[in-house]
Amino acid sequence: MVQVAEIGVPVLEGTDHVELWVGNARQAAYHYRTAFGFDVIAYAGPETGVRDRASYVLQQGKVRLVLTAPLQPEGDIADHLRLHGDGVRTIALRVEDATAAYEAATARGARSVAEPSRAEDEHGVVTWASIATFGDTIHTFVERNEYSGVFWPGYRADNRSGGGVGLRFIDHTVGNVDTGKMDDWISFYSEVFGFSVFQEFDEKDIATQYSALRSKVARDPRTQITMPINEPHVGLKKSQIQEYLDYYRGSGIQHIAVHTDDIVSTVQEMRDRGVEFLTAPGTYYDALGDRAAGIDEDLDRLRSLNILIDRDDDGYLLQIFTRPVGDRPTLFFEVIQRKGCKGFGKGNFKALFESIEREQAARGNL
Ligand code: FE2
Repeated sequence: MVQVAEIGVPVLEGTDHVELWVGNARQAAYHYRTAFGFDVIAYAGPETGVRDRASYVLQQGKVRLVLTAPLQPEGDIADHLRLHGDGVRTIALRVEDATAAYEAATARGARSVAEPSRAEDEHGVVTWASIATFGDTIHTFVERNEYSGVFWPGYRADNRSGGGVGLRFIDHTVGNVDTGKMDDWISFYSEVFGFSVFQEFDEKDIATQYSALRSKVARDPRTQITMPINEPHVGLKKSQIQEYLDYYRGSGIQHIAVHTDDIVSTVQEMRDRGVEFLTAPGTYYDALGDRAAGIDEDLDRLRSLNILIDRDDDGYLLQIFTRPVGDRPTLFFEVIQRKGCKGFGKGNFKALFESIEREQAARGNL
């Protein structure tokens, strides 16, 4: 019998793309282009010989989103959409050798979703394979060293600028899982990928008067790919994580955090373009005290934009969360700027969760 310890972990190079399965990819692409500033760089659909789906590839900095909608009611995409609504299907990981990464991951306990295969066109070859993670979410290993096309074989180049709002790279992607399952999925990332557990919070850290959650952070020491995992904790009322699980009908990606070098101008631009953000109460800024000492930004400007501040021994971070991007209270985005701080805004959790709870209450789910 093969010992897991003898098989190396999959060697990752970074996040290749995040694919969302959505009800209307054309309109979603318009939204992420006009409101979030992404360029539309590639397209695949009936016009390119793909019969069952339409996909738009969007890029800003190193952040690449693929938006895919089904063209018929049968099949995996339509099934996923009916159950989950719009949501993240895959977090695709760039690797040098997709076959080796897949074999390592499955030997170390990951469930196979798609065995290694090659996609080819006149621009070269992409080799890819997929494994399951929580819920219906997957990771796809992407090997593209021998591919020079705009995205993937079968896609044609598109060239519609979104203008950019300063989004640069994915800082972290967060999963929500069922009560009692957080440790299992943290172990999954540790055992299958060799991630280390970077930081953790329990219900005492992340609790308001009403609802609570637990969270641990798994991180690849090599690439810094970061996957926090949340689970609901029973509070006086329904945890925001439970609300997500109820509407998503299971585990899935809760938010995608994207880094900017200038959060004030990024958030101002996104607001001007119509992105809706969560609000912080005025008392949050009055109570900041030492957390706001010595920051480079104008506090009044942060207050007017509802940007939150937290710090640790290494520095501070600025962050803000969008409202859910779809009708179900599931997936949202975070905009984050780190100035040394390696944390996730623990000092903001109370204000943040009270803000989410105000929205939950408005939906009748608190
Ligand atoms: Fe986050």
